[in-house]
Amino acid sequence: MKVLSKRDVSSLSRFSEEAPLFPSPLHVGGPNIGSPDRLFTRLQEVIDRRWLTNEGPLVQELEKQFAGFLGVKHCVAVANATLGLQLAARALDLKGEVLVPSFTFIGTAHALSWIGLKPVFCDVLFDNHTLDPEDVRKKITPKTSAILGVHLWGHPCHVAALQEIADIHSLPLLFDAAQALGSSLDGRKIGGFGRLEVFSLHATKIVNALEGGLITTDDRLLAGRLRRLRNFGFTELGTVVDFGTNAKMNEFSAAMGLTNLEAYPALAALNNRICDFYREGLVDLKGIRLMSPPENGTTSQHYFVLEVTPESPVCRNSIYEVLRAENLLVRRYFEPGCHRTLPYTEEHARPGLPVTDRLSQCLLQLPTGQQMNEESAQQVVDLIRLCHKLGPEIEERLAHHSVDLSSSQLLR
Ligand SMILES: Cc1ncc(COP(=O)(O)O)c(C=O)c1O
Repeated sequence: MKVLSKRDVSSLSRFSEEAPLFPSPLHVGGPNIGSPDRLFTRLQEVIDRRWLTNEGPLVQELEKQFAGFLGVKHCVAVANATLGLQLAARALDLKGEVLVPSFTFIGTAHALSWIGLKPVFCDVLFDNHTLDPEDVRKKITPKTSAILGVHLWGHPCHVAALQEIADIHSLPLLFDAAQALGSSLDGRKIGGFGRLEVFSLHATKIVNALEGGLITTDDRLLAGRLRRLRNFGFTELGTVVDFGTNAKMNEFSAAMGLTNLEAYPALAALNNRICDFYREGLVDLKGIRLMSPPENGTTSQHYFVLEVTPESPVCRNSIYEVLRAENLLVRRYFEPGCHRTLPYTEEHARPGLPVTDRLSQCLLQLPTGQQMNEESAQQVVDLIRLCHKLGPEIEERLAHHSVDLSSSQLLR
Protein backbone atom coordinates (compact mmCIF):
# COMPACT_ATOMS: atom_id res chain seq x y z
CA MET A 1 0.00 0.00 0.00
CA LYS A 2 1.34 3.45 -0.83
CA VAL A 3 2.09 5.75 2.08
CA LEU A 4 -0.28 8.56 1.34
CA SER A 5 0.71 11.16 3.87
CA LYS A 6 4.18 11.39 2.29
CA ARG A 7 2.89 12.02 -1.24
CA ASP A 8 3.03 15.41 -2.83
CA VAL A 9 0.86 16.74 -5.58
CA SER A 10 3.06 15.50 -8.41
CA SER A 11 2.73 11.91 -7.24
CA LEU A 12 -1.04 11.91 -7.54
CA SER A 13 -2.14 9.83 -10.51
CA ARG A 14 -4.11 12.77 -11.85
CA PHE A 15 -0.87 14.69 -12.45
CA SER A 16 1.61 11.90 -13.12
CA GLU A 17 2.19 8.49 -14.63
CA GLU A 18 1.86 6.93 -11.15
CA ALA A 19 -0.35 3.84 -11.03
CA PRO A 20 -3.68 4.52 -9.32
CA LEU A 21 -3.83 3.94 -5.57
CA PHE A 22 -6.57 1.32 -6.02
CA PRO A 23 -5.55 -1.38 -8.51
CA SER A 24 -9.17 -2.06 -9.44
CA PRO A 25 -11.97 0.48 -9.45
CA LEU A 26 -14.10 1.05 -6.37
CA HIS A 27 -17.64 1.91 -7.45
CA VAL A 28 -20.48 3.66 -5.69
CA GLY A 29 -23.02 0.84 -5.76
CA GLY A 30 -20.54 -1.96 -6.44
CA PRO A 31 -22.72 -5.10 -6.41
CA ASN A 32 -23.26 -7.11 -3.23
CA ILE A 33 -23.60 -10.86 -3.62
CA GLY A 34 -24.85 -13.13 -0.83
CA SER A 35 -23.93 -16.81 -0.38
CA PRO A 36 -22.89 -18.25 -3.78
CA ASP A 37 -23.84 -21.74 -2.51
CA ARG A 38 -27.39 -20.66 -1.68
CA LEU A 39 -27.62 -18.91 -5.04
CA PHE A 40 -26.40 -21.90 -7.05
CA THR A 41 -28.76 -24.24 -5.20
CA ARG A 42 -31.69 -22.02 -6.10
CA LEU A 43 -30.59 -21.64 -9.72
CA GLN A 44 -30.27 -25.43 -10.02
CA GLU A 45 -33.82 -25.78 -8.67
CA VAL A 46 -35.07 -23.36 -11.32
CA ILE A 47 -33.33 -25.31 -14.05
CA ASP A 48 -34.66 -28.64 -12.76
CA ARG A 49 -38.19 -27.24 -12.52
CA ARG A 50 -38.12 -25.48 -15.91
CA TRP A 51 -40.44 -22.83 -14.55
CA LEU A 52 -38.52 -19.71 -15.55
CA THR A 53 -40.96 -16.81 -15.23
CA ASN A 54 -44.70 -15.98 -14.88
CA GLU A 55 -45.01 -15.90 -11.09
CA GLY A 56 -42.80 -18.90 -10.46
CA PRO A 57 -42.26 -20.39 -7.02
CA LEU A 58 -39.20 -18.26 -6.28
CA VAL A 59 -41.01 -15.03 -7.20
CA GLN A 60 -43.84 -16.08 -4.90
CA GLU A 61 -41.34 -16.85 -2.15
CA LEU A 62 -39.54 -13.55 -2.72
CA GLU A 63 -42.80 -11.61 -2.40
CA LYS A 64 -43.56 -13.39 0.87
CA GLN A 65 -40.07 -12.84 2.31
CA PHE A 66 -39.89 -9.14 1.36
CA ALA A 67 -43.43 -8.47 2.64
CA GLY A 68 -42.36 -9.96 5.98
CA PHE A 69 -39.07 -8.04 6.02
CA LEU A 70 -40.83 -4.75 5.24
CA GLY A 71 -43.86 -5.36 7.45
CA VAL A 72 -46.39 -4.86 4.65
CA LYS A 73 -49.38 -6.92 3.60
CA HIS A 74 -48.65 -7.06 -0.13
CA CYS A 75 -45.48 -7.09 -2.15
CA VAL A 76 -45.60 -7.27 -5.95
CA ALA A 77 -42.30 -8.20 -7.60
CA VAL A 78 -41.51 -6.48 -10.90
CA ALA A 79 -38.71 -6.43 -13.47
CA ASN A 80 -37.31 -3.11 -12.24
CA ALA A 81 -38.38 -0.03 -10.27
CA THR A 82 -38.89 2.09 -13.38
CA LEU A 83 -41.61 -0.26 -14.57
CA GLY A 84 -42.80 -0.44 -10.96
CA LEU A 85 -43.35 3.32 -10.91
CA GLN A 86 -45.25 3.09 -14.19
CA LEU A 87 -47.50 0.31 -12.94
CA ALA A 88 -48.05 2.33 -9.77
CA ALA A 89 -49.11 5.40 -11.76
CA ARG A 90 -51.44 3.30 -13.92
CA ALA A 91 -52.91 1.41 -10.97
CA LEU A 92 -53.74 4.74 -9.31
CA ASP A 93 -55.20 6.10 -12.59
CA LEU A 94 -52.92 9.15 -12.52
CA LYS A 95 -53.45 11.77 -15.20
CA GLY A 96 -51.86 15.13 -15.98
CA GLU A 97 -49.21 16.30 -13.53
CA VAL A 98 -47.34 14.57 -10.75
CA LEU A 99 -45.29 16.54 -8.22
CA VAL A 100 -41.82 15.05 -7.82
CA PRO A 101 -38.49 16.24 -6.45
CA SER A 102 -36.01 17.41 -9.07
CA PHE A 103 -33.19 16.08 -6.93
CA THR A 104 -33.54 12.39 -7.73
CA PHE A 105 -32.33 9.81 -10.22
CA ILE A 106 -33.63 10.71 -13.66
CA GLY A 107 -35.53 7.41 -13.78
CA THR A 108 -38.13 8.78 -11.36
CA ALA A 109 -39.09 11.51 -13.82
CA HIS A 110 -38.70 9.41 -16.96
CA ALA A 111 -40.96 6.67 -15.61
CA LEU A 112 -43.78 9.23 -15.54
CA SER A 113 -42.98 10.98 -18.82
CA TRP A 114 -42.80 7.65 -20.63
CA ILE A 115 -46.48 7.03 -19.92
CA GLY A 116 -47.61 10.55 -20.78
CA LEU A 117 -47.61 12.09 -17.29
CA LYS A 118 -45.91 15.39 -16.65
CA PRO A 119 -43.42 15.51 -13.79
CA VAL A 120 -43.63 18.91 -12.10
CA PHE A 121 -40.37 19.42 -10.29
CA CYS A 122 -40.28 20.63 -6.69
CA ASP A 123 -37.34 21.55 -4.55
CA VAL A 124 -35.99 19.44 -1.70
CA LEU A 125 -35.10 20.33 1.86
CA PHE A 126 -31.52 20.87 2.78
CA ASP A 127 -31.69 18.70 5.91
CA ASN A 128 -32.26 15.36 4.23
CA HIS A 129 -32.48 16.07 0.47
CA THR A 130 -36.12 14.94 0.21
CA LEU A 131 -39.25 16.65 -1.13
CA ASP A 132 -39.97 20.06 0.43
CA PRO A 133 -43.60 19.95 1.62
CA GLU A 134 -43.94 23.74 1.34
CA ASP A 135 -42.86 23.74 -2.28
CA VAL A 136 -45.28 20.89 -2.95
CA ARG A 137 -48.08 22.93 -1.41
CA LYS A 138 -47.25 25.89 -3.68
CA LYS A 139 -47.14 23.81 -6.85
CA ILE A 140 -50.48 22.04 -6.53
CA THR A 141 -52.87 23.01 -9.34
CA PRO A 142 -56.13 21.51 -10.64
CA LYS A 143 -53.96 19.43 -13.00
CA THR A 144 -52.06 17.75 -10.16
CA SER A 145 -52.99 14.10 -9.80
CA ALA A 146 -50.46 12.83 -7.25
CA ILE A 147 -47.48 13.55 -5.03
CA LEU A 148 -44.47 11.28 -5.48
CA GLY A 149 -41.82 11.52 -2.75
CA VAL A 150 -38.36 9.96 -3.05
CA HIS A 151 -36.61 8.56 0.03
CA LEU A 152 -33.25 9.68 -1.30
CA TRP A 153 -30.14 7.92 0.04
CA GLY A 154 -32.66 5.86 2.03
CA HIS A 155 -33.48 8.92 4.14
CA PRO A 156 -37.22 8.92 4.82
CA CYS A 157 -39.22 11.80 3.34
CA HIS A 158 -41.15 14.12 5.63
CA VAL A 159 -44.01 11.67 5.35
CA ALA A 160 -46.44 13.19 7.86
CA ALA A 161 -46.27 16.67 6.30
CA LEU A 162 -46.67 15.26 2.78
CA GLN A 163 -49.57 13.05 3.87
CA GLU A 164 -51.34 16.03 5.41
CA ILE A 165 -51.08 17.99 2.15
CA ALA A 166 -52.18 14.95 0.13
CA ASP A 167 -55.22 14.51 2.38
CA ILE A 168 -56.21 18.18 2.20
CA HIS A 169 -56.17 18.05 -1.59
CA SER A 170 -57.46 14.46 -1.90
CA LEU A 171 -54.35 13.43 -3.82
CA PRO A 172 -52.67 10.03 -3.67
CA LEU A 173 -49.24 10.07 -2.08
CA LEU A 174 -46.75 7.46 -3.25
CA PHE A 175 -43.04 6.95 -2.76
CA ASP A 176 -40.05 6.06 -4.85
CA ALA A 177 -38.25 3.94 -2.27
CA ALA A 178 -35.70 2.66 -4.81
CA GLN A 179 -32.83 3.48 -2.42
CA ALA A 180 -34.63 2.81 0.85
CA LEU A 181 -34.70 -0.94 1.43
CA GLY A 182 -34.29 -1.50 5.16
CA SER A 183 -34.87 2.16 6.11
CA SER A 184 -37.32 3.03 8.85
CA LEU A 185 -39.19 6.09 10.05
CA ASP A 186 -40.31 6.43 13.67
CA GLY A 187 -39.77 2.72 14.21
CA ARG A 188 -41.75 1.65 11.14
CA LYS A 189 -40.09 0.25 8.03
CA ILE A 190 -40.34 2.17 4.77
CA GLY A 191 -42.71 0.17 2.56
CA GLY A 192 -46.11 0.83 4.13
CA PHE A 193 -46.34 4.62 3.77
CA GLY A 194 -48.65 6.42 1.35
CA ARG A 195 -50.79 4.44 -1.09
CA LEU A 196 -47.77 2.40 -2.16
CA GLU A 197 -44.00 2.41 -2.32
CA VAL A 198 -41.64 1.24 -5.07
CA PHE A 199 -38.24 -0.33 -4.33
CA SER A 200 -35.41 -1.09 -6.73
CA LEU A 201 -33.44 -4.35 -6.65
CA HIS A 202 -31.00 -3.10 -9.27
CA ALA A 203 -27.42 -4.41 -9.12
CA THR A 204 -26.27 -1.17 -7.43
CA LYS A 205 -28.71 -1.44 -4.51
CA ILE A 206 -27.92 -2.93 -1.11
CA VAL A 207 -30.00 -5.99 -2.02
CA ASN A 208 -30.13 -6.79 -5.69
CA ALA A 209 -31.93 -9.23 -7.92
CA LEU A 210 -29.60 -8.40 -10.84
CA GLU A 211 -32.43 -6.18 -12.07
CA GLY A 212 -35.68 -6.07 -10.16
CA GLY A 213 -38.19 -4.08 -8.20
CA LEU A 214 -40.97 -4.37 -5.62
CA ILE A 215 -44.21 -2.50 -5.14
CA THR A 216 -45.49 -2.64 -1.58
CA THR A 217 -48.89 -1.68 -0.22
CA ASP A 218 -51.38 -2.64 2.45
CA ASP A 219 -54.23 -2.21 -0.04
CA ARG A 220 -55.43 -5.62 -1.29
CA LEU A 221 -57.36 -4.31 -4.29
CA LEU A 222 -54.48 -2.13 -5.41
CA ALA A 223 -52.09 -5.08 -5.12
CA GLY A 224 -54.45 -7.18 -7.24
CA ARG A 225 -54.54 -4.54 -9.95
CA LEU A 226 -50.75 -4.20 -9.88
CA ARG A 227 -50.42 -7.96 -10.37
CA ARG A 228 -52.67 -7.82 -13.42
CA LEU A 229 -50.90 -4.79 -14.84
CA ARG A 230 -47.48 -6.44 -14.64
CA ASN A 231 -48.78 -9.37 -16.71
CA PHE A 232 -50.50 -7.80 -19.75
CA GLY A 233 -53.72 -7.21 -17.80
CA PHE A 234 -54.51 -10.94 -17.38
CA THR A 235 -56.61 -12.09 -14.43
CA GLU A 236 -55.74 -15.35 -12.69
CA LEU A 237 -58.36 -17.00 -14.88
CA GLY A 238 -56.62 -15.82 -18.04
CA THR A 239 -59.00 -13.07 -19.11
CA VAL A 240 -57.58 -9.69 -20.12
CA VAL A 241 -59.31 -6.94 -18.15
CA ASP A 242 -56.78 -4.10 -18.15
CA PHE A 243 -54.13 -2.36 -20.30
CA GLY A 244 -51.21 -4.26 -18.84
CA THR A 245 -47.60 -4.52 -19.82
CA ASN A 246 -44.80 -7.01 -19.26
CA ALA A 247 -43.15 -6.12 -15.95
CA LYS A 248 -42.72 -9.62 -14.56
CA MET A 249 -39.70 -10.70 -12.54
CA ASN A 250 -38.00 -13.90 -13.72
CA GLU A 251 -36.94 -16.83 -11.52
CA PHE A 252 -33.19 -16.22 -11.77
CA SER A 253 -33.69 -12.68 -10.51
CA ALA A 254 -35.84 -13.98 -7.68
CA ALA A 255 -33.11 -16.50 -6.76
CA MET A 256 -30.61 -13.64 -6.54
CA GLY A 257 -33.02 -11.38 -4.64
CA LEU A 258 -33.84 -14.05 -2.05
CA THR A 259 -30.19 -14.95 -1.56
CA ASN A 260 -29.19 -11.33 -1.14
CA LEU A 261 -32.05 -10.55 1.23
CA GLU A 262 -30.63 -13.24 3.52
CA ALA A 263 -27.37 -11.29 3.52
CA TYR A 264 -29.04 -7.98 4.45
CA PRO A 265 -28.12 -7.96 8.17
CA ALA A 266 -24.44 -8.60 7.37
CA LEU A 267 -24.45 -6.02 4.57
CA ALA A 268 -26.02 -3.31 6.74
CA ALA A 269 -23.54 -4.09 9.53
CA LEU A 270 -20.64 -3.82 7.08
CA ASN A 271 -21.93 -0.47 5.78
CA ASN A 272 -22.22 0.70 9.35
CA ARG A 273 -18.55 -0.08 10.00
CA ILE A 274 -17.38 1.54 6.75
CA CYS A 275 -19.47 4.68 7.29
CA ASP A 276 -18.22 4.96 10.89
CA PHE A 277 -14.69 4.85 9.49
CA TYR A 278 -15.50 7.59 6.99
CA ARG A 279 -17.17 9.71 9.66
CA GLU A 280 -14.36 9.42 12.17
CA GLY A 281 -11.73 10.02 9.50
CA LEU A 282 -13.31 13.02 7.81
CA VAL A 283 -15.34 14.79 10.48
CA ASP A 284 -12.69 17.41 11.32
CA LEU A 285 -11.97 18.56 7.75
CA LYS A 286 -12.84 22.21 7.23
CA GLY A 287 -15.37 22.63 4.45
CA ILE A 288 -16.38 18.96 4.36
CA ARG A 289 -19.85 18.41 5.80
CA LEU A 290 -20.92 14.82 6.30
CA MET A 291 -24.59 14.05 5.86
CA SER A 292 -25.99 12.95 9.22
CA PRO A 293 -28.08 9.81 9.59
CA PRO A 294 -31.82 10.58 9.87
CA GLU A 295 -32.91 11.89 13.27
CA ASN A 296 -36.14 9.96 13.37
CA GLY A 297 -35.22 6.87 11.43
CA THR A 298 -32.57 4.50 10.17
CA THR A 299 -31.05 3.55 6.82
CA SER A 300 -28.90 0.69 5.55
CA GLN A 301 -26.11 3.28 5.12
CA HIS A 302 -25.66 2.12 1.57
CA TYR A 303 -25.04 5.75 0.54
CA PHE A 304 -22.33 7.85 2.16
CA VAL A 305 -22.87 11.46 1.14
CA LEU A 306 -20.63 14.41 1.82
CA GLU A 307 -20.94 18.06 0.95
CA VAL A 308 -17.93 20.15 -0.06
CA THR A 309 -18.63 23.71 1.07
CA PRO A 310 -16.89 26.93 -0.09
CA GLU A 311 -14.69 26.79 3.05
CA SER A 312 -12.90 23.73 1.71
CA PRO A 313 -9.43 24.45 0.26
CA VAL A 314 -10.27 22.16 -2.64
CA CYS A 315 -13.57 22.21 -4.49
CA ARG A 316 -15.93 19.31 -5.12
CA ASN A 317 -15.06 18.87 -8.79
CA SER A 318 -11.32 18.89 -8.13
CA ILE A 319 -11.67 16.24 -5.43
CA TYR A 320 -13.77 14.23 -7.88
CA GLU A 321 -11.10 14.38 -10.56
CA VAL A 322 -8.24 13.48 -8.26
CA LEU A 323 -10.09 10.57 -6.63
CA ARG A 324 -11.29 9.11 -9.91
CA ALA A 325 -7.76 9.12 -11.29
CA GLU A 326 -6.84 6.93 -8.30
CA ASN A 327 -9.60 4.46 -9.27
CA LEU A 328 -11.83 5.68 -6.45
CA LEU A 329 -14.93 6.19 -8.57
CA VAL A 330 -16.89 8.60 -6.40
CA ARG A 331 -20.07 10.06 -7.90
CA ARG A 332 -21.58 13.55 -8.17
CA TYR A 333 -25.23 12.55 -7.86
CA PHE A 334 -27.36 14.27 -9.02
CA GLU A 335 -25.73 16.76 -11.26
CA PRO A 336 -27.70 18.32 -12.75
CA GLY A 337 -31.09 18.09 -11.05
CA CYS A 338 -33.81 16.66 -13.31
CA HIS A 339 -35.16 20.15 -14.05
CA ARG A 340 -31.87 21.01 -15.73
CA THR A 341 -31.63 17.73 -17.64
CA LEU A 342 -32.00 18.08 -21.39
CA PRO A 343 -35.49 16.63 -21.98
CA TYR A 344 -36.92 18.81 -19.20
CA THR A 345 -34.95 22.06 -19.42
CA GLU A 346 -37.24 24.05 -21.65
CA GLU A 347 -40.08 24.07 -19.22
CA HIS A 348 -38.30 23.83 -15.93
CA ALA A 349 -34.99 25.68 -15.98
CA ARG A 350 -36.51 29.04 -15.04
CA PRO A 351 -36.80 29.79 -12.21
CA GLY A 352 -34.30 27.45 -10.60
CA LEU A 353 -34.80 25.29 -7.57
CA PRO A 354 -32.28 26.78 -5.13
CA VAL A 355 -31.63 23.79 -2.88
CA THR A 356 -31.53 21.31 -5.76
CA ASP A 357 -29.19 23.61 -7.69
CA ARG A 358 -26.90 23.97 -4.72
CA LEU A 359 -26.84 20.27 -3.81
CA SER A 360 -26.11 19.26 -7.37
CA GLN A 361 -22.95 21.41 -7.24
CA CYS A 362 -21.51 20.28 -3.93
CA LEU A 363 -22.19 16.61 -3.13
CA LEU A 364 -20.01 13.55 -3.48
CA GLN A 365 -20.88 9.93 -2.76
CA LEU A 366 -18.31 7.39 -1.56
CA PRO A 367 -18.32 3.61 -2.10
CA THR A 368 -19.76 1.22 0.48
CA GLY A 369 -20.70 -2.47 0.51
CA GLN A 370 -18.84 -5.74 0.02
CA GLN A 371 -16.09 -4.28 -2.15
CA MET A 372 -14.94 -2.33 0.93
CA ASN A 373 -13.14 -3.33 4.10
CA GLU A 374 -11.58 -1.33 6.90
CA GLU A 375 -8.24 -1.14 5.12
CA SER A 376 -9.71 0.26 1.90
CA ALA A 377 -11.96 2.63 3.89
CA GLN A 378 -8.83 3.91 5.65
CA GLN A 379 -7.19 4.48 2.24
CA VAL A 380 -10.26 6.40 1.06
CA VAL A 381 -10.05 8.59 4.16
CA ASP A 382 -6.29 9.12 3.74
CA LEU A 383 -6.72 10.04 0.08
CA ILE A 384 -9.45 12.59 0.78
CA ARG A 385 -7.35 14.05 3.61
CA LEU A 386 -4.38 14.31 1.25
CA CYS A 387 -6.55 16.07 -1.33
CA HIS A 388 -7.69 18.50 1.35
CA LYS A 389 -4.11 19.13 2.53
CA LEU A 390 -2.84 19.70 -1.00
CA GLY A 391 -5.96 21.67 -1.94
CA PRO A 392 -4.43 24.95 -3.17
CA GLU A 393 -1.76 23.14 -5.20
CA ILE A 394 -4.34 20.84 -6.73
CA GLU A 395 -6.54 23.79 -7.67
CA GLU A 396 -3.62 25.58 -9.24
CA ARG A 397 -2.53 22.56 -11.25
CA LEU A 398 -6.03 21.87 -12.46
CA ALA A 399 -6.52 25.51 -13.44
CA HIS A 400 -3.38 25.34 -15.59
CA HIS A 401 -3.71 21.81 -16.86
CA SER A 402 -7.38 21.53 -17.60
CA VAL A 403 -6.58 20.99 -21.27
CA ASP A 404 -4.74 17.74 -20.66
CA LEU A 405 -7.67 16.12 -18.87
CA SER A 406 -7.87 12.53 -19.87
CA SER A 407 -11.47 12.11 -20.92
CA SER A 408 -11.23 8.37 -20.32
CA GLN A 409 -10.44 9.08 -16.66
CA LEU A 410 -13.37 11.44 -16.31
CA LEU A 411 -15.88 9.20 -17.99
CA ARG A 412 -15.15 6.05 -16.07
C1 LIG B 1 -34.29 7.08 -6.77
C2 LIG B 1 -34.37 6.06 -7.87
N1 LIG B 1 -35.50 5.93 -8.55
C3 LIG B 1 -35.64 5.02 -9.54
C4 LIG B 1 -34.61 4.18 -9.87
C5 LIG B 1 -34.79 3.19 -10.98
O1 LIG B 1 -34.67 1.88 -10.51
P1 LIG B 1 -34.46 0.67 -11.54
O2 LIG B 1 -33.06 0.73 -12.01
O3 LIG B 1 -34.73 -0.57 -10.72
O4 LIG B 1 -35.45 0.83 -12.64
C6 LIG B 1 -33.40 4.27 -9.16
C7 LIG B 1 -32.28 3.42 -9.49
O5 LIG B 1 -31.41 3.15 -9.86
C8 LIG B 1 -33.26 5.24 -8.14
O6 LIG B 1 -32.12 5.37 -7.45
